[in-house]
Amino acid sequence: TEVAVLYGGASAEREVSLKSGEACAAALYERGYSVRLIDVKRDVGVLVKELTPPPDIVFNALHGRYGEDGTVQGVLELMGLTYTHSGVLASALAMDKAMAKRVFARAGLPVVEGTAISREALIAEEPLPRPYVIKPVAEGSSVGVQIVQDGDPPVPAADADWPYGDTVIAERFVPGRELTVSVMGERALGVTELRPKDGFYDYRNKYTGGATEHLLPAPVPQSVHDDALTLAARAHEVLGCRGVTRADFRYDDTRGEPGELYLLEVNTQPGMTELSLVPEQAEHLGISFGDLVEWIVEDAAC
Ligand code: DAL
Ligand code: MG
Repeated sequence: TEVAVLYGGASAEREVSLKSGEACAAALYERGYSVRLIDVKRDVGVLVKELTPPPDIVFNALHGRYGEDGTVQGVLELMGLTYTHSGVLASALAMDKAMAKRVFARAGLPVVEGTAISREALIAEEPLPRPYVIKPVAEGSSVGVQIVQDGDPPVPAADADWPYGDTVIAERFVPGRELTVSVMGERALGVTELRPKDGFYDYRNKYTGGATEHLLPAPVPQSVHDDALTLAARAHEVLGCRGVTRADFRYDDTRGEPGELYLLEVNTQPGMTELSLVPEQAEHLGISFGDLVEWIVEDAAC
């Protein structure tokens, strides 16, 4: 079987995708697949040309804009290629945090109160009482995420370089803990709690070895654990996702247990680096990295 692994890309998460792609390609090669790595730049002509000797399967290891938002999926659809992970609509919905929030709320899933607003509106007037969080509408790995605390200077987005578009999400800051759940097909794999040693689970804490403690299974009440599994599987389903996804949650137990669970987002192209959470949860269930990557390919093929 010939697999073309798309990796790299033109998003703010390029470095993460290079690692995900290399890891997946190596695992597939070891399993006897014939593997070709394609670094997807913002040149559709080159991509189409690369894919014209058609592989049996395209393994999408891209993250972020163009790779995770339905764009590259559209090209692959148009070319009639079989590819891994979610399709056009689910990818586009999941990547747009405002749209995903609407779909989740409509399905009765617990989301954090928040709105999409223009950057100008954010600068003109604080959208929510502090503390609140501002996020780019469509980035991953916490790129551009800022928590606005009491005593912070007004609206950091106004001061900083803000290359992430004109609309942002402003969300109430949910105190408490960070949980994540991987979904493989219809199966939620486990609940991990992320405890950064310093600050929140931002880009640095995600990709620096030792910066964040991963607790698997998360030491939360059984009902919270089970709810997180159910909600992640349901979120995958309501967006119409395929293959592997990962749902991120906040868990507010600051006023006692069992507390409140909030769905933040679904990642349709979850990280596959050595510090990534989906491989870790799979491993915990006895599914090796190679098994996981092979499953992703075989699932896409059928
Ligand atoms: N956006 C990163 C790759 C993740 O969700 O794992
Ligand atoms: Mg994300």
